Amino acid sequence: MSNKNIESVLQEGRLFPPADSFKAAAGLDAAKLAALHAAAEHDPTGFWGDQAREALTWHTPFTDVLDESEAPNYRWFGDGKLNVSVNCLDVHLAERGDNTALVFESEPGAVRRLTYRELHAEVCRFANGLRALGVEQGDRVVIYMPLMPEAIIAMQACARIGAIHSVVFGGFSALSLRDRIEDAGARVLITADGGMRGGNVIELKTAADKALSEGCASIESLIVLRHTGHDVPMVAGRDVWWQDLVHDKPATCEPAWVDAEHPLFLLYTSGSTGKPKGIQHSSAGYLLGAKLSTQWVFDLQPDDVFWCTADVGWITGHSYVAYGPLANGATVVLYEGGPTWPDAGRFWRIIEDHKVSIFYTAPTALRALMKLGDDIPNSYDLSSLRLLGSVGEPINPEAWMWYRTVIGKDRCPIVDTWWQTETGAILISPVPGATATKPGSCTQPLPGIDAAIVDDEGNAVTKPDAGGYLVVRRPWPSMLRTIWNDNDRYIDTYWHRFQNRYYVAGDSAHRDADGYFWIMGRIDDVLNVSGHRLGTMEVESALVAHHRVAEAAVVGKPHPVKGEAVFAYVVCRGERPMGDTRAFVEELRQWVGEQIGAIAKPDEIRFADNLPKTRSGKIMRRLLRAIARDEEITQDISTLENPQIVDQLRGK
Ligand code: PRX
Repeated sequence: MSNKNIESVLQEGRLFPPADSFKAAAGLDAAKLAALHAAAEHDPTGFWGDQAREALTWHTPFTDVLDESEAPNYRWFGDGKLNVSVNCLDVHLAERGDNTALVFESEPGAVRRLTYRELHAEVCRFANGLRALGVEQGDRVVIYMPLMPEAIIAMQACARIGAIHSVVFGGFSALSLRDRIEDAGARVLITADGGMRGGNVIELKTAADKALSEGCASIESLIVLRHTGHDVPMVAGRDVWWQDLVHDKPATCEPAWVDAEHPLFLLYTSGSTGKPKGIQHSSAGYLLGAKLSTQWVFDLQPDDVFWCTADVGWITGHSYVAYGPLANGATVVLYEGGPTWPDAGRFWRIIEDHKVSIFYTAPTALRALMKLGDDIPNSYDLSSLRLLGSVGEPINPEAWMWYRTVIGKDRCPIVDTWWQTETGAILISPVPGATATKPGSCTQPLPGIDAAIVDDEGNAVTKPDAGGYLVVRRPWPSMLRTIWNDNDRYIDTYWHRFQNRYYVAGDSAHRDADGYFWIMGRIDDVLNVSGHRLGTMEVESALVAHHRVAEAAVVGKPHPVKGEAVFAYVVCRGERPMGDTRAFVEELRQWVGEQIGAIAKPDEIRFADNLPKTRSGKIMRRLLRAIARDEEITQDISTLENPQIVDQLRGK
C-alpha cells in the first residue's frame, strides 16, 4: 500500500470498534485479551508453558519450556512428546466424532463431507499404507496434490507416523517439484492423476513423472490418487494407486509419539537468492501457534463453518486449513477450483450453500472480485458470515472497505492478519471481540509476541509513523527452527542483521500514534505477487537458463489486482529483438512457467542491449524499478557505466 493511502485513512480517522453483539459473544473480549497480554509480559516463558499444557494433549509432559542454549536455534517444550494428528483428530472422537470436519466442493460442484470419525479412519488407513511402503519416522514425503480432502489426509497421515511432509503447490512446475524433492531427499511422492482449475485439468501426474525422470533418486514410491479419472500411465514397481494402497488397511493406526521438536513439515519459500529455502517447522510449538491463533483471531465457536481459501501448498493452507481449525474441532470448507468458475459468483455461492460463518482470503482475490461489481455478491445470501479475514499482502483501504460493506454488510469485523511462512502462525492481528480496526492496518501483536520496529542500529523506533525493520524480539513457539540442510542461511537471513538478538521478518513497517502496525512491504528482493512470495533472483535464473538470454533483471511493479506484477528486463545473446517481439515474449513467459510455475511468468518483458550498471558492475535495481513504474528518475545516474541505456530501457 502506498503512503498516500495510509495517510488518507489516518486523516479520516476511520476506526471500527467491534459491535456490542459481537463483543458480548466473543471468546476473547478486551478484558481477557488484556489478561493474556499481561501474563505474557510478566513471564513470557511461563505464559507459553501454561498455554502448551492447556491447549495440547501430551503423551509425555514437558518439563523444560524453552531452551535458549543454542540460540537462535531455539527449542520449545524439548523433553515433551506428543502426536500432532492425535491432537487434531483423536481428541475430538469422543465428544465430536460425528461432527463434520471437512466439507469439500470440487470444481464441477460435487460435495463430499467427512466427519471427524471418518477423517480419522481415512488418515489411519493412509498412514498404514505409508508404513506398508516402508515410510519411517523422520522420512520426508512430498505432497503434490489438488486442494482436496486427500491432501489433508496425506499431511495428517505423515504427522501420525512422524514422517516429515513437504507440500509443493500444484501450480509449481515439474522442475520446481524436482528441486524440492531433491533438497528434502524425499522417499515418497504423493500426487493425483490431475486437478481441476478453471475448467481445465492440471496434469499433476505428468509433471510428477517429468520431475522423477530428471533426478529425484531418493524417491522409491509414487502414490497416485485417482481424482479426475483421465488416463495416466503408471510405472510398474514405482507407482501405486492411492485407492489400492488403502483399501485393505485398518482404520486405526498407532501414532508415533514424537519429540516436541520433531520436524512436522518443510515448506519451501522464496528468498533473495535463486534457490527456495526449506522452512522447517516443529511439531508442538507449531501446533500450539496454529491452534491458539485460530481461537484468538477467528473466535472459533462450536457451530462455526470456517473457510480459508488458501491452497495447502502455502503456509496459510497448513496453519488455517490443515492444522489450526482441525485442532479446534471446527468444520472446514475446502474448494478445489477457481474463484470465478463457472461464473464470478462461485465464492459467494459457496458461502451461501455451506453457510460459511468465517471467511479468510487474500486481498488479491478481493480486488479481483470487487472489480466485477457489487451486484454479484449482492445476489447471494451472505447472512451466515460473522467474521472476515485477510492475509498475504497489505490490503488497500478501498478493498478493506468493500469487504466490510459489501461482503460483511457492516456487521462483520475484519481481521487483517500479518504473518509469514517462517512465523508458522499469525503474529500481528486484531482480536475481533476486542480490537478496534483501521482499514489497512494489521493493528497489534497477539499475546506473547514481542513485535517491534527498529532502526538500522536495532533501536526501537518510537516516533509515530516513522518506518523501520519489522522484528520480533523474543522467540515464540511456532517460529521456524531452521532452513533444511542450511542452518547458516537460517542465521544469516533472519538473525545476523541484529547480532542474533532479533528475528528479522524482511518487511518494513511503521506504527501510528496508537501503536498500530502498518506493513509497508518487503525490504529484500522478494516480490509479493497475488499474495505469493516470489524471489526476483529465481525468475532471473529461470530467464538466463533460456539459450537466447544473456542477462536478466527482474523488479516488481504495482498492479491493481495482483498487488505486484513481475517486470523483466532481458538482454539477449546477439542482436536485441526488434519489431514485433510478441512471439518471443510469449516463448520466454512459457519458459519461466516451465522452470518455476505459472505464477512466476513475467507480466512484462523489455529488451535492452545491456543493463544499467554502476562502474563496479552492480545492477541499479532502484533505477529499473523507477523505469518499470514510469516514475521520474531521481537517482544520480552519473555513476552509470552506460547512461545512454536509460532511454532504451524506457522503451523509447
Ligand atoms: O510481506 C509480508 C506479506 O507476506 C509475506 C509473507 O509471505 P508468505 O511467507 O508467503 O506468507 C503469506 C501468508 C502468511 C510477509 O513478509 N504479508 C503477509 N500478510 C500480510 C502481509 N503484508 C501485509 N499485511 C498482511 N496482513
